[in-house]
Amino acid sequence: MPKPKVYATHPLFEEARQILEAACDIEYWTNEERPPRDEVLRRVKDKEGLICLLTEKINDEFLRAAPKLRIAANVAVGFDNIDLDACTKRGVVATNTPGVLDETTADFAWTLMMAVARRLGEGEHLARSGNWKGWNLDQLCGSDVWGKTLGIVGFGRIGRAMARRALGFQMKVLYTDAVKAPADVVQALNAEYRDMNSLLAESDFISLHVPLTPETRGLFDAPKFYRMKPTAFLINTARGPVVDEAALVAALDAGKIAGAALDVYENEPFIHPGLKRPNVVLAPHLASASTETRTKMAVIAANNVVALFKGQMPPNMLNASVLKKA
Ligand code: DGY
Repeated sequence: MPKPKVYATHPLFEEARQILEAACDIEYWTNEERPPRDEVLRRVKDKEGLICLLTEKINDEFLRAAPKLRIAANVAVGFDNIDLDACTKRGVVATNTPGVLDETTADFAWTLMMAVARRLGEGEHLARSGNWKGWNLDQLCGSDVWGKTLGIVGFGRIGRAMARRALGFQMKVLYTDAVKAPADVVQALNAEYRDMNSLLAESDFISLHVPLTPETRGLFDAPKFYRMKPTAFLINTARGPVVDEAALVAALDAGKIAGAALDVYENEPFIHPGLKRPNVVLAPHLASASTETRTKMAVIAANNVVALFKGQMPPNMLNASVLKKA
C-alpha cells in the first residue's frame, strides 16, 4: 500500500518528522522564507494531507488546487487562516493545536507587560548605545506592575494562565468574556467579572486573549481607547486585527493611553509606522515560541494527520461534521 502523500509548509521538528515519516510520504518546504503562494498551490495538487502554518490561507482557492486533500493540520491554536466552511463543504478535516501553548503564551504576554511598564526597550537601547552616562535618580522611570489592576479580555485557557501569574504580583484581576467563568475558577484566580466598559475604565493593564472572529475583528477601536485610563497600557498577544491599529496610533498620539506592547499586527509582517515609538514594545509574533512548545505543536499536528490516515478521529478536529457525514 503506498503511503498517503502529505505536504508540510515547514520542516517542523525532528519529533514530528519521525511521526509523519513512519506513516506518510512527506514532502517539506525547507527554505527559511515562507513559501510563495503559487509554489504551495503547485505542491499540494497530489497531496492528501497538509501541515500548514498560520501564514497560509486555506480557502476555496487553496482547496480547488488540492482536489485530493483530506486534512489540513494547522500548527497553531488560532485558525482564522482556515475557512472552515469551505473545508467542510469539500470534506476536508481541519485541525489545530490547543492546550500546549497556554502557559508559554501567558509567559510572553507577561514579558511584554513588564517590558512596556518598566521601559525595557528604551533601557536596552540606551545600554547598548554607548551613551549611558550612569545611574540617575529619575532615569527611565516606568510604572509598577505589582499591586496594579490587570484587565483580561477573553478568559479562556490563556487568559486564565495570565491571571494565575498575577496572583504572585498582588494584582487585582478583572476579566470580561461572553461567558462568565465558573465560580471555582474565579475564586482560585481571585478574579472579578466586569462588563467591557467597566474593565476599560478600571484597568492599568489590558491584555487581549480572544480569538479572531467576525465579532472580535476591530474590537479595540477608538471608543475603547478613549475609555481607558491615560496611564494604562494595552497588551496584545491574541491576533492583530482584534485591534484597529490606526485608532491605537491615534490614541497614543493623543495621550489617551500610556503605551502598548504588541506581538501581533493587523497585516503581518507589516507594522504600522506609528507604532514604532518608545512607549510601544514590538515583538514579531513570538508568544508561543519556546522550543518545547513549538515542538509540541508540531507533534500535535503530525498526530492529527496520522490519526486520520489510520482511520481514527484526529484528536483536534475543528469541523467534526466532516467525518460524521462520511
Ligand atoms: C497560535 O497558535 O495561534 C499562535 O498565534 C502561534 O502560536
